[in-house]
Amino acid sequence: MASADEADMSDSLRSIRSRFVLPEEVIYLDGNSLGVLPAGLSDRMNDVIEHQWGTRLVRGWNDAGWIDLPSQVAGKIAALIGAETNCVAVGDSTSVNIFKVLSAALSLRPNRRVILSDRNNFPTDLYVADGLTKLLGQGYELKLATADTMEDAVDETVAAVLLTEVDYRTGERYDMLTMTKHIQKNGALAIWDLCHSAGAFPVNLDAAEADFAIGCGYKYLNGGPGAPAFLYVAERHLAGVAPALSGWMGHKTPFAFTPDYLPAAGIHRMMVGTPPILSLSSLNIALDAFEDVDMTLVRQKSQELCDRFISEVERRCPELELVTPRAHERRGSQVSFRHPEGYAVMQALIANGVIGDFRAPDILRFGMTPLYLRHADIQAAAEILERVMCEKLWDQEKYRKRAKVT
Ligand SMILES: Cc1ncc(COP(=O)(O)O)c(C=O)c1O
Repeated sequence: MASADEADMSDSLRSIRSRFVLPEEVIYLDGNSLGVLPAGLSDRMNDVIEHQWGTRLVRGWNDAGWIDLPSQVAGKIAALIGAETNCVAVGDSTSVNIFKVLSAALSLRPNRRVILSDRNNFPTDLYVADGLTKLLGQGYELKLATADTMEDAVDETVAAVLLTEVDYRTGERYDMLTMTKHIQKNGALAIWDLCHSAGAFPVNLDAAEADFAIGCGYKYLNGGPGAPAFLYVAERHLAGVAPALSGWMGHKTPFAFTPDYLPAAGIHRMMVGTPPILSLSSLNIALDAFEDVDMTLVRQKSQELCDRFISEVERRCPELELVTPRAHERRGSQVSFRHPEGYAVMQALIANGVIGDFRAPDILRFGMTPLYLRHADIQAAAEILERVMCEKLWDQEKYRKRAKVT
């Protein structure tokens, strides 16, 4: 492996780093939880607030194009997930969008009663699926399998399979193409949660012939805390999808104010309420950082950063157990290690300038974001982690005290 400095010299994404604001004193390995602030975003947001909102007031919906902002942002996200703009809607949270696509999927398979998911899926996916089955009654149920048993679990009772492409704890990645084919061969619909995929590596929903997808705007897309989420509906399903959350922004003619609900044509029917213009503007601006970025180069660098971190940490910290697959094709853009005192280790690491995060019960998680991370950052982070482990810096009461957000 080339030295970190050599690797940085030959990094073709090197210049992209200046598109972000990076605090001097920290190495940020948590862009898989909350992306960093894009450069120039605060000035542009100031314009949205002071000029568009402050002076245009309600006229902004037309004059400043607010009403079309969700579609504009959808176009930018569509380009990153291998979809057509007319198949992507932006708004609401990932959790709400899971409800929207799951209920849409179930209505397309009325004779089947099972939602299948992964026992290790992100909890909100499971909670929303479970809540929906309880709301529907009539024998609907959520069944869980693991990555190893998933294929066998797709039987003739399954209406929809809800999977997160990259496991939020381990970073293990499903093979979207193969799994989607398998799901559909068995008559079910494939729904992909792309929270740890969009903006992290090339995604091609159309090529995989996925049925539905959802994802968030605040991780690799850098839209800001709680940024709006997105959803995808394959073009072949658009006309047949009946939205369960039939809000006025999904109406065919919202400003006709008729008492009856008529769904808008196409993806617009998946919209629900008034778009959150401030947070949408932030996401819209943040997505400009991806302009002209070749996502295959992002993937390549992400894997190099992961490889470097794994080899440096394993060499320096033998007490940390790697839980992320070593094979490139089997992982996303994060590296995770297990340690029984993982929470305290992470707090000590953060106190020493390396920000990652902890996922219960014992996972130390490090996100690799090639747009702004350098090989030298990875090298330095591994050295600091070594110090935290060797000198047992984590072994202090203050680092064991759990904060509300871990
Ligand atoms: C896979 C996955 N799905 C969903 C969510 C969160 O959903 P929401 O954006 O509604 O909070 C997360 C958050 O980390 C996640 O990792």
